[in-house]
Amino acid sequence: MSAVTTSLPVRSEDEAFLASPIGKKVVMAVTGAALFLFVIAHMLGNLQIFMGRDKLNAYAELLHHNPGALWTARIGLLICALLHVVTAIQLATLRSKARPVAYIKKGNAGSSYASRTMLMSGPIVLAFLIYHLLHFTFGSAHPDFRNDVYHNVVSGFQRVPVSIAYIVAMVLLGLHLNHGVWSMFQSLGVAHPRYTPALKKFAMAATAVIVAGNVSIPLSVLLGLVK
Ligand code: HEM
Repeated sequence: MSAVTTSLPVRSEDEAFLASPIGKKVVMAVTGAALFLFVIAHMLGNLQIFMGRDKLNAYAELLHHNPGALWTARIGLLICALLHVVTAIQLATLRSKARPVAYIKKGNAGSSYASRTMLMSGPIVLAFLIYHLLHFTFGSAHPDFRNDVYHNVVSGFQRVPVSIAYIVAMVLLGLHLNHGVWSMFQSLGVAHPRYTPALKKFAMAATAVIVAGNVSIPLSVLLGLVK
């Protein structure tokens, strides 16, 4: 008896897992968690604006002091952001192909609402990020950019439309994080019916803190509390 051979391409288990919808959800969850931690750390750093010009500028100076660490973090974040966006597009494509099946399944209204919200808020957060980098990092979208982070933030937010755009973007970021943190727990298998209310509350509370912390900066500049 001759052995049966096959010429099908052989995939490693890891490759097959990453190509599966569950693998893609894990990629979304892990990269999302890294971006979420960055957003919290970034907000805590930025809140030092309330401690005055010297404090905020010393913090910015410290970050730029070690280019090796700075670029490692930047490249890590960029890879996470790219993987997050590309995988989101792949999952949305898979979901739209599977739609005829989803329609006859009961009880999917919540998840399709969540995924619609993510697909609306995700691209807006990405657009915000591109503008934000041009505004505060590269300075090309800032009318008076200097080597002085405190000045750049205060003079940037003294323009009402700019502050309003930031505040709207932060609310949409909040919507994105609220759903994102909750789906992260589900994708990583942490969610269990017993913990669902607690995990949902955690996602909501963490999001509220991030939105409030970030919105407080443009709002305080607009109100003249920080100048
Ligand atoms: C009102 C809220 C925010 C303020 C006041 C703010 C402020 C700043 C400032 C001043 C910089 C430049 C820092 C420097 O060059 O030393 C910066 C950079 C940056 N911000 Fe924000 N930010 C805010 C919200 C966000 C959010 C929500 C995100 C992500 C979704 C974000 C992502 C980034 C990134 C990726 C950089 C570039 C960091 C680097 O590699 O140098 N920021 N931000």
